[in-house]
Amino acid sequence: MPTTAPTGTTTPTTTPATTGLPTATALDTARLLLGVLLPTVVKGPIIRRPWAVGLTARLDLDTKAVAIVRKVHARYPEGPLMLRLPIRKQAMVLDPGDVNTVLAQSPEPFSPASSEKKAALSHFQPSNSLISRGPVRTVRRALQEQVLDTDHPVHHLADTFVPVVEQEMQGLLTEALRTGSLPWAAFQDAWYRVVRRVVFGDHARDDKELTAMIIRLRKDGNWSFLKPVRKDTRRRFLQRIGDELAHAEPGSLAAVMAAAPKGEGAAPAEQVPQWLFAFDPAGMAVFRALTVLATHPEAMATARREIDGDTSGRRVLPYLRASILEALRLWPTTPMILRQTTRPVEWPEGVMPADCGVLVYAPYFHRDERSLRSAHNFSPERWLTDEDDGWPLVPFSDGPVVCPGKQLVLLLTSAALASLVSGHDFGVEQGQTLDPDRPLPGTMDNYSVRLGVSPRA
Ligand code: HEM
Repeated sequence: MPTTAPTGTTTPTTTPATTGLPTATALDTARLLLGVLLPTVVKGPIIRRPWAVGLTARLDLDTKAVAIVRKVHARYPEGPLMLRLPIRKQAMVLDPGDVNTVLAQSPEPFSPASSEKKAALSHFQPSNSLISRGPVRTVRRALQEQVLDTDHPVHHLADTFVPVVEQEMQGLLTEALRTGSLPWAAFQDAWYRVVRRVVFGDHARDDKELTAMIIRLRKDGNWSFLKPVRKDTRRRFLQRIGDELAHAEPGSLAAVMAAAPKGEGAAPAEQVPQWLFAFDPAGMAVFRALTVLATHPEAMATARREIDGDTSGRRVLPYLRASILEALRLWPTTPMILRQTTRPVEWPEGVMPADCGVLVYAPYFHRDERSLRSAHNFSPERWLTDEDDGWPLVPFSDGPVVCPGKQLVLLLTSAALASLVSGHDFGVEQGQTLDPDRPLPGTMDNYSVRLGVSPRA
């Protein structure tokens, strides 16, 4: 019995029911743990391990993971699936309507502050909104939304930020033309300069120590509960951020944060690491989209038509924004959206207990060729129409816990792509083959990509 439509019509309530949710056998649970969870965890949930991304790509583990989920879903078509785990109550949501329900009903009763996420992020931001609950979460989320201009496609500091992106990308291109190529590592260095200037201002452009500190703490975060917190390093790191906020440079996100009104328990310094951390996947999305454009002439031509005709000063580039979204659909940087129930939740099929982990595995929905046109190809157009309306394409999550930085990310990343492709041609010198006429790979190993660069023909 299909209980939900893709638009999400299930209405979980909190009245206990007598029926149980479907529960996976021990074998199916093992299949999901080994084939889906393990590769994602080994790749590094908080900071990627390049060797593991390379291995996952070579063994095509992400494609295999989607196939495993599909087979398991076929055996338990109805309702969220409880996994058979000895130490934890854990459910997996396999129905698109149920995904919409979970995301729409976050943070209550589906809290984003799940135990493993809390343990992982506490290594560097124990009071961040994402792992907070109750009234302080509301205060912290409101502060994030205010600083990041969540509801506006063009951040009010765009006049400062877009030229920063342009300068750093042009510097990167000059160097790439000199050396003849553009490897991921060079792009990442330039992207980190953009991030430090946007977050703290021009004075932080070359402050690699700050970046190194958070990288060290994020590496620990990959181990979640399994590694003790480096409390001294964390204290020094958060102190550095506190100092930056105390002397915030005008025109930076830090300055907006410093000036914003704050409710009780806002913990402003602990909201900032999430920005530094989350700009990483934004850089990955730019480089991946660039690599796709370099190998997809039609998409490149459409992108350039948009850039050449742009009158918005690169603030509003719908096709380029859609290209970033499409790169994130194909290769989601948050493949696992995690929730934890704050109380028992009744579904039509049964009751999900309190403190139950809830997993949404985004690639299962993002790559579903039974429901999506060109599921394995690059088709930014899908983001410009309502063709996938109601289907969970959720690289930035959705609902009240949707990424509050989404619009800022799309502004900066589309401006970066525009700076890169408007005057230069790219070709893949080293890395995976991306062919517009063939399905794109399940994993994109950006670390091994080296692009050739030349002035635009
Ligand atoms: C491509 C880049 C990014 C992607 C794909 C992304 C995606 C996400 C996702 C999926 C979540 C929700 C996580 C969950 O439900 O557990 C989230 C939360 C969040 N993101 Fe992003 N993000 C990106 C970049 C950024 C940036 C650059 C910022 C800030 C400058 C940011 C700020 C936040 C914050 C503050 C939260 C927590 C929201 C809350 O507590 O309600 N993100 N992001």
